[in-house]
Amino acid sequence: MKKVLFIVFSIFFFISIPTQAAIYKGQKVYSKVCMQCHTDGESFVSNKKQKEWNSLMKNNGNSLAKLHLESENFKKEVQYETYKKYFEGSSFKKKSKHLKQFLVEYAKDSGNVPACN
Ligand code: HEC
Repeated sequence: MKKVLFIVFSIFFFISIPTQAAIYKGQKVYSKVCMQCHTDGESFVSNKKQKEWNSLMKNNGNSLAKLHLESENFKKEVQYETYKKYFEGSSFKKKSKHLKQFLVEYAKDSGNVPACN
């Protein structure tokens, strides 16, 4: 019995650790990059539903990158040149999976709300 519990626990452990790591990495991207412009941080994430974040982040964040690159308001941003390159580059694509996990984890309908609410 103990052995079974141990195995079940181990499986759970090995599944949950990478997920937590991805969310953490995604959060780092979000606070380092996205919050340069989207200063309302957490509430910006919880304004969208999981489905909305999922579709924006599909195909390595293709829609999200496009939305920015085509926006007139984005072109007016002070750091436009830097972030144009960022959204076009491989770094964004590479990290988009982590970012997606973070965004979905804290979406409006995720049930994950900060403890103080
Ligand atoms: C250089 C500034 C800048 C950065 C960096 C930036 N954004 Fe944006 N973002 C904008 C602007 C400007 C708009 C408004 C586009 C429009 O409506 O014309 C926007 C729009 C959006 C929208 C759609 C607006 C809405 O409320 O539905 C989402 C979602 C979004 N950004 C998410 C992100 C995420 C996630 C990141 C990090 C990878 C990010 N943004 C990084 C400037 C930025």
